[in-house]
Amino acid sequence: MNYSVALIPGDGIGPEVVGAATEVLDAVGDKYGHIFNYVEVLAGGKAIDETGEPLPEESLEAVKQCDALLLGALGGPKWDTLPGHLRPERGLLGLRAGLGVFANLRPAALLPQLRFACPLKDEVLIASNSEGKPSFDLLIVRELIGGLYFGNRGRSADGNTAFDTESYSRHEIERVLRTAYTAASGRRKKLCIVDKANILESSRFWREVAADVSKDYPDIETSYLYVDNAAMQLVRAPGQFDVIVTSNLFGDILSDEASVLTGSIGMLASASLGAADSPASGNSSDKKTVMGMYEPIHGSAPDIAGKDLANPLATILSTAMMLRYSFGLEKEAAAIETAVNRVLDSGLRTKDIANRGAGTAEKIVGTKEMGQAVLKAIENI
Ligand code: IPM
Ligand code: MG
Repeated sequence: MNYSVALIPGDGIGPEVVGAATEVLDAVGDKYGHIFNYVEVLAGGKAIDETGEPLPEESLEAVKQCDALLLGALGGPKWDTLPGHLRPERGLLGLRAGLGVFANLRPAALLPQLRFACPLKDEVLIASNSEGKPSFDLLIVRELIGGLYFGNRGRSADGNTAFDTESYSRHEIERVLRTAYTAASGRRKKLCIVDKANILESSRFWREVAADVSKDYPDIETSYLYVDNAAMQLVRAPGQFDVIVTSNLFGDILSDEASVLTGSIGMLASASLGAADSPASGNSSDKKTVMGMYEPIHGSAPDIAGKDLANPLATILSTAMMLRYSFGLEKEAAAIETAVNRVLDSGLRTKDIANRGAGTAEKIVGTKEMGQAVLKAIENI
């Protein structure tokens, strides 16, 4: 089967990690008989330099013509002084909103090979882990195209006040809750709704909508936590969580926190999905695809850009999510995950996941060598 994949390598380390990931994707294609056709699209800082805008209209149109989007990272210090509407991050928000990808799935699990890189003690990890193991495996479902990121914002006439608005409609809450409940159904069947319902009216509305929606998922255990408590519970007993669903801003913050527990932000992949019947889905008549946007959760890391130092695994694991969620290629997705596991088993580490302690048989490698190792592991599966 042929799939068209829009590529936005972006800024900073983006081109390096996306380069490694597409080579891995091609290896999967060779092994399982698929062809991935890449369409390179301009967005972010590079687009500002070349066109004056972070997301030219033709870029969004080009992405919509494809089956899925793989993005590296956007932004960098060069563009930091531009006004808000011209910053590279606007390009990212424009893509998310333009594609209608309202649910952002950010899995965070502690791999045994990276146990040393997690800052928590064994007893902390074991607390509330039902299997009594020093590990955790959770999924944050972040609402992605509403809330404070997209609400009314502005300044007062006298310039002495600024405001942003947290606003959610029933429809927006319900659809992301359903994605989260569906994800929980395929996992350990626990959903924790994180909000600030002791203060925010919008959070109280989330709970009201959740009370209705939860009736459709009787086998899922629903719980609620205030976000301050959730931030604490994540570092106190992360094993208690299965799926967390939350608003755009809270999800942004909690996913960075969770990434540290996995050892490195360079490990966390993400998938952003819309409705299965959204206008951007199922472009090809010969196959069923669901438009999704796939990106590592890390940023453009300008300090290490171009130095072959970036960890490509988050982007590589994002392509696994693309195969699973957009193309329904479960076997191929699992092959990438297995390959990453084997490469870590073999002791290969980029700098961010290297053990600083002694006595481990590790080999520190760069972005390219890590990508090549995953590719070879796929060939040998
Ligand atoms: C993320 C990032 C973005 C966000 C930034 C770069 C706009 O932090 O994807 O988590 O806040 O959504
Ligand atoms: Mg973030």
